[in-house]
Amino acid sequence: MSHQHDPIDNLSNNRHFQDVLQEGLSGVNRRSILRGGVGLATLFSLPMLPGCAATAGTLPNLPTSNLLGFSPVAKSILDQVSVPAGYTVKVLHATGDTLDPAIPAYSNTGAETDDWSKRVGDHHDGMHLYYIGSNGKVSSAATTRAVIAINHESSADSHFLHTSGQTSAGVSGKKFDQFGTWDLGARPGLQALKEINLHGVSIAEVTLDSNGLPTGYKVDSTLNRRVTAQTVADIKGPAAHLSAIKALMATKYDPTGATSRGTLNNCGYGYTPWGTYLTCEENWAFYFNMPNGSTLPDAKTIAARKRYGVASAAISSSATAAAGQGWYTPTDLPDTDSRFTRWNIAASGASAAEDFRQEPHTFGYNVEIDPADPTSRPAKRVAMGRFAHEAAVCGLPVAGQPLAFYMGCDSRNEYIYKFVSTAVWDPADFGGGIAAGDKYLNEGKLYVAKFNSDGTGQWIELNVSNALISGYTSTTYTGFTFSTQADVLVFTRLAADAVGATKMDRPEWGAVNPANGEVYFALTNNSNSNRTPATADAANPRSYNDTDGKKSSGNPNGHIIRFRETTSSSVATSFRWDIFAFGSEEDAPASVNISGLTANNSFSSPDGLWFSKSTGVLWIQTDDGAFTDETNCMLVAAVPGSVGDGGEFMVGNSLTTSSGTTTGETKTFVGGLLGESRLRRFLVAPKGAEVTGLTETADGKALLVNIQHPGENTAKLGTATNYTFESQWPGNGGGLTSGGYGVAGRPRSATLIITKNDGGKVGL
Ligand code: FEO
Ligand code: CA
Ligand code: CA
Ligand code: CA
Repeated sequence: MSHQHDPIDNLSNNRHFQDVLQEGLSGVNRRSILRGGVGLATLFSLPMLPGCAATAGTLPNLPTSNLLGFSPVAKSILDQVSVPAGYTVKVLHATGDTLDPAIPAYSNTGAETDDWSKRVGDHHDGMHLYYIGSNGKVSSAATTRAVIAINHESSADSHFLHTSGQTSAGVSGKKFDQFGTWDLGARPGLQALKEINLHGVSIAEVTLDSNGLPTGYKVDSTLNRRVTAQTVADIKGPAAHLSAIKALMATKYDPTGATSRGTLNNCGYGYTPWGTYLTCEENWAFYFNMPNGSTLPDAKTIAARKRYGVASAAISSSATAAAGQGWYTPTDLPDTDSRFTRWNIAASGASAAEDFRQEPHTFGYNVEIDPADPTSRPAKRVAMGRFAHEAAVCGLPVAGQPLAFYMGCDSRNEYIYKFVSTAVWDPADFGGGIAAGDKYLNEGKLYVAKFNSDGTGQWIELNVSNALISGYTSTTYTGFTFSTQADVLVFTRLAADAVGATKMDRPEWGAVNPANGEVYFALTNNSNSNRTPATADAANPRSYNDTDGKKSSGNPNGHIIRFRETTSSSVATSFRWDIFAFGSEEDAPASVNISGLTANNSFSSPDGLWFSKSTGVLWIQTDDGAFTDETNCMLVAAVPGSVGDGGEFMVGNSLTTSSGTTTGETKTFVGGLLGESRLRRFLVAPKGAEVTGLTETADGKALLVNIQHPGENTAKLGTATNYTFESQWPGNGGGLTSGGYGVAGRPRSATLIITKNDGGKVGL
């Protein structure tokens, strides 16, 4: 989702790491390491990071790499895709394309009816290419059939998808979105249904040429599928706590809480070692409302809503300030199966089983989908916790060992988590679909990360037996206490607050280096109210002002942190970390441009991270609002080293806001400098777009790249149909080898097929 959509809901009073810095590795930290089962002898036998108290400019340069074989792409603010010379760029499919031959081709005028559950959704995000074997199941080796699973994150700018923008009764042409303001009039039912059904996941069969390269998709494939915000899913979780979990999921739709409807805000993703897809529910909190005069639920539910950013009070009678899409308001179409009122979270019934006060509890999960079986029911994996899920990346699977999944929670000051399966990996489970998921993703331990000021970190288990959790009370989230492990799994953010997890600069995607198992996380940015010189800590060390153009402040350009588990094992409870790279403009001062970026690799607000298994290249996608005066969002290729290849670094911070200037100095740990031989810009997106999902063919010769929300900043002028499109891509053909795609005019999210003209691997 776009860079503006970064709510802050964490008002917990977790200490910042300024405090931890004072504490060093004594007292509480030492005890928690021992509690975690890792002896100090083990900890201190880790290789120590080289250097001591280095200052700007003294980080080592990593050895020159000749792996990246393309010429860097210049910054661009053009309405086109820019790639290096020698590459071909085509569109695989785009928002609105039909997945069923009975559905008309996309008009790109907003003329569609309620058929979005049979079209490619909007706001393309995480994705993965799966090969299909002759037995109809996923195949671990390349075959002649493949499907592509794609997340459709948002309807934030779904004004493109209606004839004259999002409306409600009598206010034609007013731009509504879940982050804007709107009146209390009823929305047209058709608009609501279109928006509900454009969310979720699309699965489409890809057409492959004789060389195995994707050329497009098959409209009539029986493998084509949509999972939308109305698709039934099973609630799955640990057996010992499942009845308590289901009690928290009970709604009028399913009073038993065994099933829920739909998935929302599908952003990051994961693919499992057994060949299924995990779609991550991120900013789902904004879709729920309570109209003026609603009855509120109990204090615990309200407190939890507040922590998750779900409306915790009824809409005011001023009728202008309500968040949400207004999906509960339509009156012009039948409310079949409460398809509209399910978005109204008032406590209107006699119990939770008679209304939809608990509907928000059914969102915020990793949702497992079998991409090879359109009849299989998705499963919400409650054991992996409930938060603004952003990526679920699996550590390198080892036969006979538990599996670890690394997960971010994307809001300002949120946390990084790990789920470790109870079951140990058996490669024979490949192709086992949702049943295999039941084996690995229902039982396990959930941890949250604490980054220490000395370059170490701990995984703290989130278990109700921890006195910090069972004894939790808060004056901010008044009335919330934990009574069961089900509470920990459904109200995970509060449990992480309780144990003192480290507040990060908006954790986005994670990625695991296939060469060494190290885990990378994008920390996309943070605001000047959250990241000040006083609250900067070792893992989030910068607080500064950008000095030209947009002049954003806080940590507007973000950074990428990485860590190595202490025992190189999924069950490790400690790790060592450093910061792989800092986003920056190349002309920023050295205290900001710590990674020494140049005009050929400067980037801002890293969001997606993805390792090519074929080439080992780390691809960095950006979703930025700080550097966009100089360049659209981009894709950068990196050849990483490993944790500890740089050194200690003292960051000198200075932040000026309307209340004055504060300064500070923060010690951190930074990887070796990459230089242009190891970090290079590969692609720049059209105007207003972010670069999101990435996947590849097995041979690495086709890279698939998602372009999300081109033209996001489109303005509507005066009348309902009078737009000034910020972007008209891909209809304008900008940068596409094959020319304009689809009906020209309104911008569309799309999936790119990028190949190298000489037939080689992309990026090399
Ligand atoms: Fe959907 Fe965190 O970006
Ligand atoms: Ca600037
Ligand atoms: Ca600049
Ligand atoms: Ca994202």
